[in-house]
Amino acid sequence: MSSLFDLTGRTALITGSTRGLGFAYAKGLAQAGAAVILNGTHAQRLEDAVAELCDAGFTASGFVFDVADERSVEAMFSRLDEQGVQVEIVINNAGIQHRQPMLELALADWQRVLDVNLTSAFIVGRAAARRMVARGSGGKIINIGSLTSEAARATVAPYTAAKGGVKMLTKAMAAEWAEHGIQCNAIGPGYIHTEMNSALVDNPEFDRWVKASNPSRRWGKPDELIGTAVYLSSAASDYVSGQIIYVDGGWLATL
Ligand SMILES: NC(=O)c1ccc[n+]([C@@H]2O[C@H](COP(=O)([O-])OP(=O)(O)OC[C@H]3O[C@@H](n4cnc5c(N)ncnc54)[C@H](OP(=O)(O)O)[C@@H]3O)[C@@H](O)[C@H]2O)c1
Repeated sequence: MSSLFDLTGRTALITGSTRGLGFAYAKGLAQAGAAVILNGTHAQRLEDAVAELCDAGFTASGFVFDVADERSVEAMFSRLDEQGVQVEIVINNAGIQHRQPMLELALADWQRVLDVNLTSAFIVGRAAARRMVARGSGGKIINIGSLTSEAARATVAPYTAAKGGVKMLTKAMAAEWAEHGIQCNAIGPGYIHTEMNSALVDNPEFDRWVKASNPSRRWGKPDELIGTAVYLSSAASDYVSGQIIYVDGGWLATL
C-alpha cells in the first residue's frame, strides 16, 4: 500500500514554498521521497527554507523568481534542462492576497493578484507540461484554489476571481493533458493559520467567526494539507484528474 504514495526518485517543484502552506507541501513531498525544488521572491527566506530541509536530510534546492514573470519562469526551466533535472510534479502554490472594497480597488492591484494567483499557474504549468508531454512519461500538476473557488466574501474580489479561475484552469489542463498521462488537480485549503492570514487570526471577531462557522470549530494547520498533496502527487491518484479537493474541516459542507 505504501508504494502507492511513494515519491522516491521523483522531482517536484513547489512555487511559493519559503513558508506557509508551500513549505508544508515541500516538506511533505520530501518526506514521501521526492527531491524538492523550492521557490520564492526573497533570496534569504528561500536559502533558509532550503537549508532547513537539507539539514533534515532531504534533497532540496531553490530558485528565486516571480511566478508571474514568464521570462524568469522559462529561464528557470531552461537551467533545469541544462542540469538534466526533470520536473515530474508541480504544485502551483504561490499566491498573494489584497483586501480592499472593489469600489476603491485600483486596476493595478486587481491585475497583480490575478497574475500571481492565476496566470502564474498557466505560465508554470505550461512550461512543465511541455516537457512532460515531450518526455512521454506523464506527470502531476496541482494548482492551489481556496474556499473562494466556490464562495465569495467582501473585500477580496480579485483573489476570489483568481481562485475561481484556478478551479476552471485545472479542468482545462485536465481536458488537454490527461491523454498524456498528466493528472491535473487542485487543492482548496480552508482557513489555515499561516502568515498570509495572520492579521485575521489576530482579529478576535474574525477568529470567532471562523471557529463558529466551521464544523471543526478551529483553524486548519499547514501540515494538515500534506496528505492531500502527497496523494495528488503519487500513483494513488493516477486516474484522478480535473478535481479540486477542499481541505477545509467541513466548512463548504455547511454553506
Ligand atoms: N492560508 C490559508 O488559509 C489559505 C487558504 C486558501 C488558499 N491559500 C492559498 O495557499 C497558497 C499559500 O498560502 P499561504 O497562506 O501559505 O501564504 P504565505 O504564508 O503568504 O506564503 C506565500 C508564499 O508565496 C511566495 N510568493 C508570494 N508571491 C510570489 C511570487 N510572485 N512569486 C513567487 N513566490 C511568491 C512567498 O515567498 P516570498 O515571500 O519569498 O515571495 C511565500 O513563500 C496561496 O496560493 C493561497 O492563496 C491559503
